[in-house]
Amino acid sequence: MQNFDYQTPTRLIFGKGVIRKLPDVMAAFGKKVLLTYGGGSIKKIGLYQKVLELLAGYEIVELPGIQPNPKYDPSVLEGVRLCKEHGIDVILAVGGGSVLDCSKAIAAGACYDGDPWDLITCKVKAKAALPIVDILTLAATGSEYDIYGVISRTETNDKIGYGDPLLFPVCSFLDPTYTFSVNRKQTAAGIADAMNHTIEQYFTEDTTLLNDGFCESMLRSLMVNGRKCLDNPEDYTARAEMMLCCTYGCNGILALGNTYSGWPCHAIEHALSAYYDITHGWGLAIITPRWMQHILSERTLDRFVKYGVNVFGIDASLDKWEIARKAIDETYAFFESIDIPMHLREVGIDESRIDEMAHHIAVNEGLEEAYVPLDEPAIKEILVASL
Ligand code: NZQ
Ligand code: ZN
Repeated sequence: MQNFDYQTPTRLIFGKGVIRKLPDVMAAFGKKVLLTYGGGSIKKIGLYQKVLELLAGYEIVELPGIQPNPKYDPSVLEGVRLCKEHGIDVILAVGGGSVLDCSKAIAAGACYDGDPWDLITCKVKAKAALPIVDILTLAATGSEYDIYGVISRTETNDKIGYGDPLLFPVCSFLDPTYTFSVNRKQTAAGIADAMNHTIEQYFTEDTTLLNDGFCESMLRSLMVNGRKCLDNPEDYTARAEMMLCCTYGCNGILALGNTYSGWPCHAIEHALSAYYDITHGWGLAIITPRWMQHILSERTLDRFVKYGVNVFGIDASLDKWEIARKAIDETYAFFESIDIPMHLREVGIDESRIDEMAHHIAVNEGLEEAYVPLDEPAIKEILVASL
């Protein structure tokens, strides 16, 4: 087992109606609030109005319109400008992962005198960040419980996931009823995203029985409860368990003591989203089985066998290679069964920029250090197989 130094300072307040605690939580941070949100879903579900009611007496400045795959320009830059102009004390992010991620970049940028891009690209280490409170409305990314923000810059085809312990939200409100209105496409994308977060941490070295069991259980729960959420979007129990699974995704708890895997599917998917602005979870679902096919070898065989037997219940007495191949087929079949388009062409990506993307990933993502190292030809092979 590898050494680690681990702390998660985020307070999670989970369950139906927990938003009533919002005023108590916010009272600790001052009266000037930047309220960040997306394209309007929070207004449709009545959450926007509820927040304003609960925060009567606060000075609220709004940053609406944060898009999926949140953009540096205008959203991050505008948010930083508003924070500085109004002397904001705390950011209240209400929405999905994109709103939370954008708010993290704003929180750090607001406490920095230079160009916030310096922080996102890790050219400069942030010295401080505004506190972030969030109310999550979409179960997927785990941003509510982690240090990461993923920001896109359209003109350079960059989509960068950067992390800093300063960016843990101070408090996340997790009310599963706010996810009832998430549509079928985004629910499925959330299931695929959280499953891939788990897979990225499961396929590595130095794993333990404990971590493997946690990951296997997460994957089974996400498939069972994810399906229930799709069949009945207002199934509270299923939405709740899916939400908690997603929350665990990226904060490191699934892989304490494991060797770092390099998160190869995310590295590849971020380029797809950067170049084509596709939905993150869909991109991951398309890449994951092709990456699995690519890395299956004598060295990785036992990992696939364990995954196949413990996650999909494949008969352990079968030949190991047969189990491994079935496990990859089952992974593909599950994503397909929740209506995710399983070919890049179906999401508008053809071969025209494959070389460019493979080069971009190879240069920027450090995948030569991954669990199974990936160089530019290997990345290209995975992308071509995904077409
Ligand atoms: O913009 P609004 O109107 O709010 O609509 C959103 C958006 O169109 C909608 N939505 C959210 N909550 C809803 C709802 N619709 C109905 N009812 C609700 N309750 O869903 C759409 C997608 O929202 P978005 O926030 O983009 O989705 P998600 O949470 O999947 O976030 C994706 C982003 O997170 C990044 C991804 O790369 C992507 O940019 N990631 C962040 C990570 C992190 N911070 O740790 C890790 C992930 O691996 C991921 O990379
Ligand atoms: Zn993800």
